[in-house]
Amino acid sequence: MQFYLDTGNIDEIRELADWGVVEGVTTNPSLLAKEKDRGDYRALLAEICEVVRGPVSAEVIAEDAEGMVEQARSLVKISSHIVIKIPCVPEGLKATSILFEDGVHVNMTLIFSPLQALIAANAGASYVSPFVGRLDDIGHEGIEEVVKMREIFDVYGIDTEIIFASTRHPEHVLQAALIGADICTMPARVFRQMVAHPLTDIGLKRFLDDWGKTGFEI
Ligand code: E4P
Repeated sequence: MQFYLDTGNIDEIRELADWGVVEGVTTNPSLLAKEKDRGDYRALLAEICEVVRGPVSAEVIAEDAEGMVEQARSLVKISSHIVIKIPCVPEGLKATSILFEDGVHVNMTLIFSPLQALIAANAGASYVSPFVGRLDDIGHEGIEEVVKMREIFDVYGIDTEIIFASTRHPEHVLQAALIGADICTMPARVFRQMVAHPLTDIGLKRFLDDWGKTGFEI
């Protein structure tokens, strides 16, 4: 399973990209609202694409298919890494099927059910993003919806990739890996939490203390 970073913050992207495990980035309008002082949208996306040499999802904000397609065609000129995020609504499906013919990769977003994922795949989406955390927030078992998506895609040999999204904590990442999500996108906070373990810190301190007693040098 690949790890994507779910942020528009270039400092976080630079920091985590240096770990060598960030294979893509997902952004959305709410994440970008936090970056409004960082120059213009296109410049920020270009910078992200320079740092992360993998798919970078950029969302359209038009509400009709024609507008979505126009914005998508403009955004893909920024970099060959750009993937177009389109919401799972009828106009979004229409735009996705047009962009599929153009060879533009679409990440269909705001997916909450297996049937939305299937219809997105049939429209030609390269990725679907089920928002697991938001389903959990309203008392559903978000993970169960992703399990069903995986099953349907496997039964029909659908190669649209499942991006486990709206990831709230490391347990979500573990669940994503166990049920066969292709990708898990998460905030920088969850990346850091995944790596941290108190026994690692205690063990490292003990090793360094003991090394100090040896008098050896490397
Ligand atoms: C995914 O692509 C979305 O940007 C994201 O995961 C949404 O997460 P949220 O529910 O924490 O806003």
